[in-house]
Amino acid sequence: MNGLHATMQAVCLRRVPQGVPQAQDFELRQLPLPALGDGQLRVQVQWLSLDPFLRAQLGGRYAVPCPPLGSIVPGYGIGTVAEDRSGRFAVGDVVSAMTGWAEQAVLDASVVSRVDATLAPISTAVGVLGIPGLTAWAGVRHILEPRAGQTILVSTAAGAVGSVVGQLCKAAGCRVIGIAGSARKCAIVIDEYGFDACVNYRDADFLQTLRSACPDGIDGYFDNVGGAVLEAALSLLKLHARVVLCGLSDQYNSAERPAGPNLGPVIGARARLEGLVVYDHLADFNRCRSELSRMIADGTLRYREHIHDGLANAPAGFIGLLNGDNLGKALVRL
Ligand SMILES: NC(=O)c1ccc[n+]([C@@H]2O[C@H](COP(=O)([O-])OP(=O)(O)OC[C@H]3O[C@@H](n4cnc5c(N)ncnc54)[C@H](OP(=O)(O)O)[C@@H]3O)[C@@H](O)[C@H]2O)c1
Repeated sequence: MNGLHATMQAVCLRRVPQGVPQAQDFELRQLPLPALGDGQLRVQVQWLSLDPFLRAQLGGRYAVPCPPLGSIVPGYGIGTVAEDRSGRFAVGDVVSAMTGWAEQAVLDASVVSRVDATLAPISTAVGVLGIPGLTAWAGVRHILEPRAGQTILVSTAAGAVGSVVGQLCKAAGCRVIGIAGSARKCAIVIDEYGFDACVNYRDADFLQTLRSACPDGIDGYFDNVGGAVLEAALSLLKLHARVVLCGLSDQYNSAERPAGPNLGPVIGARARLEGLVVYDHLADFNRCRSELSRMIADGTLRYREHIHDGLANAPAGFIGLLNGDNLGKALVRL
């Protein structure tokens, strides 16, 4: 390893965020390059994924515990192989893995996946063709099961998961209604992603507008937020509706768990509610990727990326994601 590259920049956790994360919760540091062992490879990171689950993890409310103070902030990344001692990758191969918010990562070959750069731009490996795409695909195919003529409601409709959910349901012949946090996002949801309507949950007349957008109720709801938006969606369920419980964006920044919604309408509608954990569906990744990349190629699936430039801007990008500033999949380009 040449001396010029003996250190790297990384964003580390300075303190555990309380409420909405602040820039001071993170710290850009110069760290020694980790040593490369047998069976490992060194990855030069090019893209970092910014994901809501990180907020849950930092709050101790995720399957994986909050990382220790001072350690590199965890996260998915995409990069090229700079050195390989596993015999499984060649220098220059494009890969994705949990690299963390750092310029370089040393990883066991067993936790690294090869990225097929012929499918779409490589950044999509953490977006529409990555975990968000698989989350949408698995929830739609295995739980929502949309059928032509049905009405499907989707929250965080302008986001990485929600935008794909809606387009898959449109492709299945459904009437699709989105919920998003601004007039601009609602316009994108309709004009770019082809939803039939989109309602801003921040508007004072949200409930009324939602009811008029779904005059006959809904056959399915893909929930990424919980709370009051979930409560509103439940009041619209038709008989035997399906509800995918996927995310809790409205409570990731609160220390207290809010009182749950009244589930009475679920009983009345004989509806099925089902939680989604994307990691149960990893075996479907190749099938999902080939289906979604075909849809990208023939123009039936569109996606947006919200790119922040430079590792130092990762904390601001992450805070923006939690505030809903992102228009599409939030990424950092290194
Ligand atoms: N179950 C699983 O296995 C799994 C896997 C992946 C992702 N997820 C979940 O899926 C959801 C979407 O993830 P994503 O990666 O696609 O993120 P995203 O939608 O691209 O970005 C997060 C969005 O959440 C919205 N939001 C933030 N606070 C909110 C609030 N209080 N009420 C309603 N919406 C709020 C914001 O959009 P608005 O401006 O529209 O509010 C923000 O843009 C997250 O909840 C994530 O945790 C679950």
